[in-house]
Amino acid sequence: MERDKFSSKFGVIAAAAGSAIGLGNIWKFPYITGKNGGAAFIFVYLICIILVGTVVMVSELSLGRRAQANSSGAFKKLKPSSKWYYTGYLAVATSFIILATYSIIAGWVLSYFCSSITGKLTTIAPDNLASYFETLTGNTPMVLFFSLLVIIITAFIVISGVQNGIEKYSKILMPILFVTLIILIIRSVTLDGAEKGLEFLFKPDFSQLTAQSVLEALGHSFYSLSLGMGVIITYGSYIKKEENLASLSLKVIAADTIVALMAGVVIFPAVFAYGFEPGAGPSLIFITLPAVFQGMPFGSFFESLFFLLVGIAAITSTISLLEVSVSFLTEEFHMDRKKAAIFLSAGVFLLSIPAILSFGAWSGVKIFGLSIFDLFDYISSYIFLPIGGILTSIFVGWVWGTKNAFKEISNDGLYSFKGYKFYNIIIKYIAPIAIFMILLYSTNIIKL
Ligand code: TRP
Repeated sequence: MERDKFSSKFGVIAAAAGSAIGLGNIWKFPYITGKNGGAAFIFVYLICIILVGTVVMVSELSLGRRAQANSSGAFKKLKPSSKWYYTGYLAVATSFIILATYSIIAGWVLSYFCSSITGKLTTIAPDNLASYFETLTGNTPMVLFFSLLVIIITAFIVISGVQNGIEKYSKILMPILFVTLIILIIRSVTLDGAEKGLEFLFKPDFSQLTAQSVLEALGHSFYSLSLGMGVIITYGSYIKKEENLASLSLKVIAADTIVALMAGVVIFPAVFAYGFEPGAGPSLIFITLPAVFQGMPFGSFFESLFFLLVGIAAITSTISLLEVSVSFLTEEFHMDRKKAAIFLSAGVFLLSIPAILSFGAWSGVKIFGLSIFDLFDYISSYIFLPIGGILTSIFVGWVWGTKNAFKEISNDGLYSFKGYKFYNIIIKYIAPIAIFMILLYSTNIIKL
């Protein structure tokens, strides 16, 4: 049977950018930028993306396309009779756990979207927004409902297939996302006092920069580009032979980075214009922003648009996370696509229940000092994700080999591509070492 494939270049870019652009760009990037002093952090982030992100992304795409297989099958095909395919198992486990926590936050977003369309959110006094957020996250049945909704939408799209599901919906949703962002930017930068926010974003103050922010930037670049856990390998396997992988990667990375910056341009000018603090952390979009929207003319309209935008960004990422394990089960265990998607979605939902409860009845339960939600997030994003990234770069750099990777990237020499030396050094040395540093840092083995 012919493998399901993305039908067009725009389809590939929309799907891969859809995976990359997510809560990481609109929720996390602005708040870690806020915490790390703004422009100087962005500068470091850009260096990480250009040096390491591009190289790892193009490597993952080439792995997937050459092997024509899912994230575990790819290692098996390119290095038969070795244990490398366990890297794919790790990827499946990681994407599965990330999906459980991701769908919870996406569920909060959907709930905020609903309460902004009904106008309820604008009736809450700014001082009460923090407790509103806490009440919502602690309301277990409500959060269960909204995260289940996220999982059902995700499963529906994935069941429809690569071309008729993932590609089709990404092609519709990504342009809507861009247009929404542009409308919101226009609103935000035309507010009185918006310049201070722009200055915060674009005028670097390097004194704010610490070694810790550098590792945070590098870690976030992996997360934001969906690297290190098989998503890009899997999508690579759906890309036609004639496409130019290097140019596709650059486009996806550019889109991801531009959206992260645009999200900053939506958020910070508005936050500064209304005299709020930029460093609120994870609650920036759930507590600070609703207060900002309340002060704005037609605030609830812009607020609904904003949460629609975040919701779209989240769904195009959850489909890529689910696709990793769906393609794994369909190819390695010959399960039917629909069955695999339903089975996995049920699993993700079950896994998310203890994490949801950890904001409510189980808030006292601590494992290694972390709540269940934080533990899932920590294991997946800070331990498994970097390990997956290190293994993937070592595999491409040393096992499968940069010559083979390069052959696939250049379509057997059809596309000239001068970066071989640079590519070779980064994937063999810089990427694994740099990611290893993230791992040491996030496991507290080194303290900065
Ligand atoms: N990149 C997405 C974001 O920025 C999240 C995501 C989707 C992801 N798939 C992934 C992160 C795979 C790591 C690996 O929100």
